[in-house]
Amino acid sequence: MRTLDDLGDIDGKRVFVRVDFNVPIRDGEITDDTRIRAALPTLEELRAKGARLLLAAHLGRPKDREPEFSLAPVAARLGELLGVEVKLGEDAEGDVVMLENVRYEPGETKNDPELARRWASLADAYVDDAFGAAHRAHASTVGVAELMERRAAGRLLQREVETLEGILADPARPLVAVVGGAKVTDKIGVLEAFLERADAILVGGAMCFPFFAAQGHSVGSSLCEEEGIAPAKRILAEAGDKLVLPRDLAIGDRFADDAQRDDIPGIDVPDGWMGLDIGPRTAQDYEDRIAQAGTVFWNGPMGAFELQGFVRGTRTVAEAVAQASGTTVVGGGDSAAALAQFGLADDVTHLSTGGGAALELLEGKPLPGVEALR
Ligand code: 3PG
Repeated sequence: MRTLDDLGDIDGKRVFVRVDFNVPIRDGEITDDTRIRAALPTLEELRAKGARLLLAAHLGRPKDREPEFSLAPVAARLGELLGVEVKLGEDAEGDVVMLENVRYEPGETKNDPELARRWASLADAYVDDAFGAAHRAHASTVGVAELMERRAAGRLLQREVETLEGILADPARPLVAVVGGAKVTDKIGVLEAFLERADAILVGGAMCFPFFAAQGHSVGSSLCEEEGIAPAKRILAEAGDKLVLPRDLAIGDRFADDAQRDDIPGIDVPDGWMGLDIGPRTAQDYEDRIAQAGTVFWNGPMGAFELQGFVRGTRTVAEAVAQASGTTVVGGGDSAAALAQFGLADDVTHLSTGGGAALELLEGKPLPGVEALR
């Protein structure tokens, strides 16, 4: 993969920089600017080398040019962070210009060659720092890159790829993967990849229930993905004792902050109740295994951590990851949000800015945005 070190002299040149500024915005206010901050090293390095920047980013999944998907608040925030005015729009002039949401262009997600040519004609070189969008073969992530002789990965994308590939290639052992979240079908690929390479996979979140259902346990009214049961059965057959499932659970009578809650010593959920978190014995076991790991990869919460009564499992894992002496890598939106909620985002070795992209890379799938930089 080509990096900024391979880009040559860019003094006075216009560089098209694809960034992932797909940040949460509520009532016009950015509620988490982590992704914008994460791109600053690349943007500052390019500016220090004399480049003028043409930034390209997507926001959400607009169907048309809905104003709520405008990048205006993002341009304003970036301007504050860089200390320079960031002008918005293809026709704008200035040292730092940002295109409007690339997904306002119908050709973006189709990787339309004409759109790619138009964007490529606006710049002398291409830099991709949008790791979170590297699994998308779109005009701004692949089309433009392929048309530009001078192209490179930005520092964020470079670090993401090197760190995540490092976990697969040569991890300090034991390698412990902690995988949670609601749906097992979203995580099959990553579970299979870690079954080959990890020493233990600790499972949490509602994605446990298809496993429990496959083992014949009662799941009560827990969120239990029906289509997940057959793949869960297959994974159970392959996994042996590498796959670690919860031994106890916290249950609630409904999905609500004021739900009645209970800790049960086993994993059979009574009728009328739902499993909403891992239990205390499981949390302790996961904490111990994380503490002893040489490398930890964590993706997905252990329970409904957005509900006050069911935050314990996810908090225990987050704190264990933050305190672990091994290399700790956290991928994915929900785990990142959990770390931020507990004030631990700076206490891990690497917090990935990519959710889907990080998982696809770990599954061993080539990422189109990365391939285009070879
Ligand atoms: C993300 O938020 O995961 C990335 O920005 C990709 O967004 P997308 O799933 O809408 O392509």
